[in-house]
Amino acid sequence: MHDFRYVGSKLYCERVSVESLVKRHGTPLYVYSQHTLADHFAKLDAALAPLDHLVCFALKANSNLAVLRTIVNLGGGFDTVSEGELRRVKAAGGDLRKCVFAGVGKTECEIEFALRAGIYCFNAESEPELRRINKVAARLKKIAPVAVRVNPNIDAHTHAKITTGTYENKFGIAFEQVEGVYARASRLKNLRLRGLQMHIGSQLTEVKPFELAVKKVLPLVTKLARKYDFEFFSIGGGLGIVYDPALDSGDAKWWEQPKAKKILTPQSYANTLVPLLKPLGLKILMEPGRFICGNAGILVTRVEYVKRTGKKNFVIVDAAMNDLIRPAFYDSYHQIVPLTKQGGAPVSSDVVGPICESGDYFCKNRPLPKVGEGDHLALLSAGAYGFVMASNYNTRAQAAEVLVSGNKSAVVRARQELPELWAGESVPKWLK
Ligand code: LLP
Repeated sequence: MHDFRYVGSKLYCERVSVESLVKRHGTPLYVYSQHTLADHFAKLDAALAPLDHLVCFALKANSNLAVLRTIVNLGGGFDTVSEGELRRVKAAGGDLRKCVFAGVGKTECEIEFALRAGIYCFNAESEPELRRINKVAARLKKIAPVAVRVNPNIDAHTHAKITTGTYENKFGIAFEQVEGVYARASRLKNLRLRGLQMHIGSQLTEVKPFELAVKKVLPLVTKLARKYDFEFFSIGGGLGIVYDPALDSGDAKWWEQPKAKKILTPQSYANTLVPLLKPLGLKILMEPGRFICGNAGILVTRVEYVKRTGKKNFVIVDAAMNDLIRPAFYDSYHQIVPLTKQGGAPVSSDVVGPICESGDYFCKNRPLPKVGEGDHLALLSAGAYGFVMASNYNTRAQAAEVLVSGNKSAVVRARQELPELWAGESVPKWLK
């Protein structure tokens, strides 16, 4: 469920018309629904209620401070992957003791920062990393809480660029090696073996791969938990969302979702996993990113030109791959709808940005309402891995972000000013 819907012919986010936001803040514009964020968090939290658990929002999906504060206010923790992300959590008023720190390349400085901050746990991805954490902890006279990320070698059947749980990937430690790694780590004096972690991939639309991974890892985590007195088991993130309701449920209209017949839901996920996890008696951590914020955000863009070539109808808009790279990078589908609903026959269109790359498109040959210069379109499901993956390619300023709650709205990130883009650059003396 999300809170973007038509009221009459106008697209609304909660009780605010998106058109009114565009008039005030211009385009390209990211718009987030606070109620949708909270609702998705609550659904997961409720599904896991039979377990001692903590939902740790993976802020790589959306790290805007207002989004983070929404999660803080709901009692969530965070899955982080850099010092920058830890600092963001702090800046948003979050508790670093509710943060886990993942990633294959943690630097000494980052480890030191995290240790001083008192994070809940490092999710270590290699033995050299465990040795490095131990060394830094010894220097600081601290005991570092660690978990090993196990790679269960389960194919998540998702896009090749976002699968992480097989031996083709750089992530985690191979299932067969994990026991040995814990045995050696237990001899490192400044580590506390606090738990075990796994994450098999992103945008998983079925429960099956999660079930297979949990079933495979359960005997291992049970044994290690006894031996090392674990506190938690983290089952990672990866819950998929509906990007294309037509694919998902045949007849569903996007604003009526979820009529999902096939895609997993927090309840179907929990129905399968909770009975498996309950007997463990450990605290269960979860690291969802996309599920919480994906359908809570849209990217609004203005039509600049419509260009008909021999074969095609190009709708050229003012957002581009630098604002939302997912279609260019993963060929991903984002539903595109007009801010003002209109009748008339759809036109097969390519929606493209102004960047000088053929990959700068949002859709190809898609039947869309007829639009003209000055009309606005919304790219849906852009709340996860949208703004956070934005760049300044072609020296384009990054979009503004707005958060809506009921009938209130606020700019939660100002549009970049162009001079900011070269503010840190300089021309050396010899060129002057
Ligand atoms: N935990 C770990 C260790 C992860 O690596 C990730 C995502 C998550 C949790 C959160 O996964 P989620 O619940 O959001 O699926 N940029 C790509 C997605 C990359 C995901 C990276 N890791 C995209 O736009 O689809």
